[in-house]
Amino acid sequence: MLRHLLNPMDLSVEETADLLALAGKMEANPSEYAHICDGKKLATLFYEPSTRTRLSFEAAMLNMGGSVLGFSSADSSSASKGESVADTIRVISSYADICAMRHPKEGAPLVAATHSLIPVINAGDGGHQHPTQTLTDLSTIYHLKGRLDSLTIGLCGDLKFGRTVHSLMTAMSRYANVRFVLISPPELKIPSYVRESVLERNNIPYTEVVSLEQALPQLDILYMTRVQRERFFNEEEYIRMKDSYILDRAKMALAPEDMFVLHPLPRVNEISVEVDSDPRAAYFRQARYGVYVRMALIATLLEVKVC
Ligand code: NCD
Repeated sequence: MLRHLLNPMDLSVEETADLLALAGKMEANPSEYAHICDGKKLATLFYEPSTRTRLSFEAAMLNMGGSVLGFSSADSSSASKGESVADTIRVISSYADICAMRHPKEGAPLVAATHSLIPVINAGDGGHQHPTQTLTDLSTIYHLKGRLDSLTIGLCGDLKFGRTVHSLMTAMSRYANVRFVLISPPELKIPSYVRESVLERNNIPYTEVVSLEQALPQLDILYMTRVQRERFFNEEEYIRMKDSYILDRAKMALAPEDMFVLHPLPRVNEISVEVDSDPRAAYFRQARYGVYVRMALIATLLEVKVC
């Protein structure tokens, strides 16, 4: 059956657990999985910049013996000539077995999925969702904390445009005793659709605060985010917002010893480099887990046999 991953909810809690378990096995025993995708092709259709997401998708497919093709900017694709996503995916369906798409427009991967003959993975659509970053985040939290339930998660920065925040909150809302502390300036609060469809519908406890210092002592996880410059309507507003939060050593002193700092990366100014050597800084480890969850996802959507 043709399956896509457009939203974290496209995988049930059980399927998510199976996928994280498979990612763990792939990390522990890479040689066992080195040929499971022999002869298969992944197309990476990136209409927006990316470093980690695109390269970790490509590394994931190469690690399993498959090959990759694609483009890394809209300028180098026929989108620049006016081709629609629907037409592009119809054609790519006969060139590749699976595709990962990043697009500046919310819903573009959904449009692609409705016209596709191959699995479509949403690799980030505008300010909407980024489900494979969420799988990476869940894997990281599980590695660090040994659980996905009973956690107080602080999300800090651009909660309005940050698609990784929307996807992580959506996924985490399905685990028991999860509480969110939403840390942002009033201008960058989470959108009302996330508040209604994720928090209120599921009765998830949350608080909204402006002060990071005030939030830090109560957190198990701090998820820092970059202010999403490319989604702002004017540059002055971005400049006014961009340094709203800077996590430094002095602020880390307010955090519990067992609180971990995650960040989807790229970081701009929001985490001072002096925090990198703190054992609680987990963002570079997080980027590494992204390869294994994407291997597990590709194998699952392609329905290749794995042990
Ligand atoms: C994130 C994204 O693209 O939304 N990056 C990523 O995929 N690791 C976060 C960001 O760009 O700020």
